[in-house]
Amino acid sequence: PPADRYEAENATISQGVVESNHAGFSGTGFVNADNVAGSHVEFTVPAAAAGGRTLRIRYANGTTTNRPMAVAVNGATVATRDYTGTGAWTTWVTDTLTVPLTAGSNTIRLTATTAGGCPNLDYIEVA
Ligand code: GCU
Repeated sequence: PPADRYEAENATISQGVVESNHAGFSGTGFVNADNVAGSHVEFTVPAAAAGGRTLRIRYANGTTTNRPMAVAVNGATVATRDYTGTGAWTTWVTDTLTVPLTAGSNTIRLTATTAGGCPNLDYIEVA
């Protein structure tokens, strides 16, 4: 995998479990967050310098209901995205946005904002 990939199964999980029963994921599994608002996954990401970075979030949502998540960097929400249904739990897609990082260590937290919880999360990449 690319050096800038951070697997969700290695991140800090609040209200969720690592599973591997839906094929197509990278690494050893994915995170199935609990179906509750507030469930989240937090990644620690280093940056050599401050500035905007491209963030890719790979996920699957086998339902037909959006699973919106707040994207927070170092504790501040920088975006809230919808994470629409992907057609199947085995269909993984990538959402791309730009996030501001500071020099040094950053946290990137993805938090469910509705009762459905997060979509299943495979990894993030920071480019
Ligand atoms: C199913 C599916 C899980 C998913 C869950 C959900 O149980 O197998 O991978 O996380 O639905 O609705 O969140």
